[in-house]
Amino acid sequence: MYRYDEFDHGFVKQRTKQFRGQVQRRLNGELTEDEFKPLRLMNGLYLQLHAYMLRVAIPYGTVNSNQMRKLGHIARKYDKGFGHFTTRQNIQYNWPTLKDVPEILDELASVEMHAIQTSGNCIRNVTADHYAGAIADEAADPRVVAEVIRQWSSLHPEFTFLPRKFKIAVTGHAHDRAAVKFHDIGLIAKKNDAGEVGFEVLVGGGLGRTPMIGKTIRDFVGYTDILSYLEAVLRVYNLYGRRDNKYKARIKILVHERGIEEIREKVEAEWAEIRTGNLELPQEELDRINAYFADPDFEDLDITSREFEVRKFENREFAQWVRSNVKPHKKAGYAIADISLKDIGEAPGDISAEQMEAVADLADKFSFGEIRATHEQNLVLPHVKQADLFAVWEGLKAAGLATSNIGLISDMIACPGLDYCALANARSIPVAQRIAQRFESLDRQHDIGELKLKISGCINACGHHHVGHIGILGVDRKGEEYYQITLGGDATENAALGERVGPAFSYDDVVDAIDTIVATYLEVRESKDEDFLQAYGRVGITPFKEKLYAAH
Ligand code: HEM
Ligand code: SF4
Repeated sequence: MYRYDEFDHGFVKQRTKQFRGQVQRRLNGELTEDEFKPLRLMNGLYLQLHAYMLRVAIPYGTVNSNQMRKLGHIARKYDKGFGHFTTRQNIQYNWPTLKDVPEILDELASVEMHAIQTSGNCIRNVTADHYAGAIADEAADPRVVAEVIRQWSSLHPEFTFLPRKFKIAVTGHAHDRAAVKFHDIGLIAKKNDAGEVGFEVLVGGGLGRTPMIGKTIRDFVGYTDILSYLEAVLRVYNLYGRRDNKYKARIKILVHERGIEEIREKVEAEWAEIRTGNLELPQEELDRINAYFADPDFEDLDITSREFEVRKFENREFAQWVRSNVKPHKKAGYAIADISLKDIGEAPGDISAEQMEAVADLADKFSFGEIRATHEQNLVLPHVKQADLFAVWEGLKAAGLATSNIGLISDMIACPGLDYCALANARSIPVAQRIAQRFESLDRQHDIGELKLKISGCINACGHHHVGHIGILGVDRKGEEYYQITLGGDATENAALGERVGPAFSYDDVVDAIDTIVATYLEVRESKDEDFLQAYGRVGITPFKEKLYAAH
């Protein structure tokens, strides 16, 4: 794992000290809330419906057990005993008091974490595939380039005040688990004919008010050139991105309005100027960063563990958990274990201080102290011996974290919605809870199979509703909460935006509507092997529409 160097330590410490002074001045009344706002936003501190909210970055979703314990400690000491994992590998605290925030930032700094650039019109936390380094058939570990970008973009003087926020995601695998096509820049690691690693660069994806799928701007950029290329893209955006209208300020609008060819030309021209300058990545630096992400000390094991097979045979509940929550590992005898933060009836992404500590302990015992946060509001133990999976499951069960629903309908993404968010039109969390309760039977969920349901409380799309197989968007209709449903969205390499099914449903009717959609799928699917998206691709939206609006 990456560790801070002296520079990182120094700059995080300095920033915390500076912010402590700013908070003090706000508390003394020397700064008004308006004056304080830009200062707090530079440090990830929002003001929401009921309280301040602090967003903490987890670069490329990798945390170690000490960091996780610290996140738990912060939840217990400074919040209401909970933290909330988001869709951008961040954790949010919903109830810190202002006077405590500098303390929290000091505590975070002590474990090499911070909240810088988790807000504002700068390059945000760089996200990556949460199975990085553990999954088989990666072209490269995406965290290496993500770390290079983190170092380049942290406090980048030229890109601190972009037209709008800027989000970068990286995958090293052909199967995209990082939604790279829905980011301002998406990077896909691949090998060229000479066997060298480089990146396909996509630009102009995003969700929100105007959802767009990113377009390839360059097919291959090697490590040496990646920073100069990114710098060229950011420069073109900084120069031409619209600043007259906040809603048209993202790079996706620039790409859409000017066309990818014009943007490519401008980027190439800029790149030609700076390519051989001081942004070239020296091999020694790349080697140094690569070393941080070297494999842990895996043992040489048999491909399958007999003990594991026997446990699965003997214990149906464990077998069910394995079916949905365990994935194959690149190393024989190991596995990747997903931890669901979607227990039925809980707020998606919420985790208590005690649960964070339990995860940290399990990571120490069974996963080389390593944990990942996913963009789907879950956690992962990336390197577990198959023979230890049963013990991990028992540990998770004791902590209330063994829900067997990864990828199933109750494994939903939901933004905070009206319960916390000042921008919301409708509640998200209670809708998620009610849907999960309706589909409580895990047997039924396993029978339905993979189904990604995503809910946002407003058009900003924090809950990724556009790319849900079933998407739900909260809208306000004359002061009442309504929910628009879309079908067929896909956040993977087959990127697709959902299609609106028809008029919105009331808060009372939305769960029945989801039930009807699922029942329709079960009716039309050709076999259990035809998942929701495949069936939808084959039959289209009409059968769903007919069933949903039959009574009207
Ligand atoms: C309660 C605090 C939050 C506030 C005030 C907030 C605000 C916003 C706003 C204003 C946008 C639209 C930005 C734009 O289009 O330029 C947005 C987008 C987004 N937010 Fe949030 N958000 C909050 C919480 C969250 C949470 C909890 C998540 C994850 C669960 C999240 C993830 C995202 C994502 C993924 C987008 C879409 C970005 C894009 O591609 O355009 N946000 N948020
Ligand atoms: S989608 Fe809207 S309601 Fe939900 S968190 Fe984002 S801004 Fe708030």
